[in-house]
Amino acid sequence: MFDRCGIIGFTGDCDAKDILLGGLRTLEYRGYDSAGIAFFSEGKIKTIKTVGKVDCLCDKVATEVEDATTCGIGHTRWATHGGVTDTNSHPHTFGNVTLIHNGIIENYQELANELAKEGKKPVSQTDTEIAAMVIDSEYEGEPYEAIKKACDRLDGAYGFCIMFADRPGEIYSIRNGSPLVATYAPETGAIIASDMVALISYSKDYFVLPEQKIAKLTKEGIVVTDLSGAPFEPEMLHVNWDVAAARKDGYEYFMLKEIHEQPQALMKTITPRIVDDLPDFTTDGIGDDIFAGIDRVVIVGCGTAMHAGLVGKAMIEKLAGVLTSVEIASEFRYANPILSDKTLVIAISQSGETADTLAAIRLAKEKNAKTLSVVNVKGSTIARESDYVLYTHAGPEIAVASTKAYTVQLAAMYLIAFRMAYINKTVSDEAIKGLIKCLRRVPKDVEKMLKYDAQIENISNILNKAENLFFIGRGLDYALSCEGSIKLKEISYIHSEAYAAGELKHGTISLITDNIPVIAIATQNHVYGKTISNVKEVRSRGANVILITNEGVSVDPALCDHQITLPRMDDRFAPFSAAVVLQFIAYYASVHRGLNVDQPRNLAKSVTVE
Ligand code: F6R
Repeated sequence: MFDRCGIIGFTGDCDAKDILLGGLRTLEYRGYDSAGIAFFSEGKIKTIKTVGKVDCLCDKVATEVEDATTCGIGHTRWATHGGVTDTNSHPHTFGNVTLIHNGIIENYQELANELAKEGKKPVSQTDTEIAAMVIDSEYEGEPYEAIKKACDRLDGAYGFCIMFADRPGEIYSIRNGSPLVATYAPETGAIIASDMVALISYSKDYFVLPEQKIAKLTKEGIVVTDLSGAPFEPEMLHVNWDVAAARKDGYEYFMLKEIHEQPQALMKTITPRIVDDLPDFTTDGIGDDIFAGIDRVVIVGCGTAMHAGLVGKAMIEKLAGVLTSVEIASEFRYANPILSDKTLVIAISQSGETADTLAAIRLAKEKNAKTLSVVNVKGSTIARESDYVLYTHAGPEIAVASTKAYTVQLAAMYLIAFRMAYINKTVSDEAIKGLIKCLRRVPKDVEKMLKYDAQIENISNILNKAENLFFIGRGLDYALSCEGSIKLKEISYIHSEAYAAGELKHGTISLITDNIPVIAIATQNHVYGKTISNVKEVRSRGANVILITNEGVSVDPALCDHQITLPRMDDRFAPFSAAVVLQFIAYYASVHRGLNVDQPRNLAKSVTVE
């Protein structure tokens, strides 16, 4: 099940409606089938909610609300429990409690049965309303006590913003799993949300609300306490991006903007980790002890992050000579994996909140493995729970399909492989310096790839009528095929499969018939001839081939419909350039079909429950 909601709460001296609606627009990527706000108006809580995008909510608020308000909560939803209806939209009110929720209450049916015995019935089909009912049933005028008792009864993931009818101007928040970040800006007020993008207009300094701590927001400030009411000082964090990063800046979609942000993101991720032409994690506080004495690396992640792990595995094994496996985090957590204190578990996650990846890290720690995470969001749960964290510096990624977060994850994995090789002395210092030189060049290489935009837009027309297609490649090109395939599927809804090119003939080639598109990636010199043989096999069965190669190889024009040539480079670094090609292919396939590129159906940016 997915966590697909964006939540925001504000109390202060400004008009809360503007802040809530503005915040919901920035959070819309987290959920986009209905939206709502609730706010104090003349001492009472008023709720406006509707099916549709945040724009629909804004229209409704503009026509229905005249009164100003300074305290309220807002929500943008993607339905999980209960269909897409006005009634099921958040906020939900029961008795004294008005609530917005991001997450899933797993024991909601059991709780609903208990409440029914007391004669209490919900009006919606949501687990959230049940949570509101539970909090209300525990409320006797004391918010902390009610929240504590209610949370003892709730199983599952939640980020809550709660208003009590008899406590105007106050918002209470608590979370378990689902993210919540907060800031207090003296000129504006106190604000809490699922993501920093909703806070950035007001402050670059913020804190992550720790799990099972309660934040009380008033116009005077934010007080954080533990469940027993003892004060707690959260760690303040600072972001190094600004409000422009959370806007489209003239691009039609965030995804296109984020593709174009890759050179910068790569530069920011790579440069601080190079000292004297060698990989260096001193400023990250990552000591070499984490790599010393390791006999195995296990990389865990989901989706695109896991695909970055496939490239990481190849680099670590090739350079550092350490046996490495890549595990899908949702499988790993239930597989009773064999781990020891000589295993290094590397978790890769853009959001740092993915539930399966977090569970994998927790399991690894339980089994005494060392843990290192590669994470983009500062202060996120995975980052905080790992022994060490190597932050990528992609800035906020808003489009659901990951682009810049993926290429910076690759860069981080290259740096880790280089450092391990350096420590293990499996590669000479001179050779490491040579690799670092190539890595330094990557932002420029990727910049050149951005100019392929128009060519790929044109080539992508070949996919306009496709219902199925294949990505094939060997070695690193196979890892890239996996990434190309997920990108295309998620935003264009074209079914595709990634295949190790040599594996086709063991069954799958029977699906290759006239005009089936095949995107063949052949950038790896040592298997180039082999991949080309596989291209010949599909071509002779009628496939329409888009062939991605390095510059300088001569290809029989009869072998493909289109050839995309990557600028000359050491082929170990081709994944960065090939990734851009694949991102553009997916992007234009989606655009040509008239789809919403940034907000594909059924998907959430951050999957914080199972
Ligand atoms: C695909 C995509 C997802 C994420 C996956 C893990 O474009 O974005 O496959 O990579 O959900 O998310 P994080 O990296 O936040 O753990």
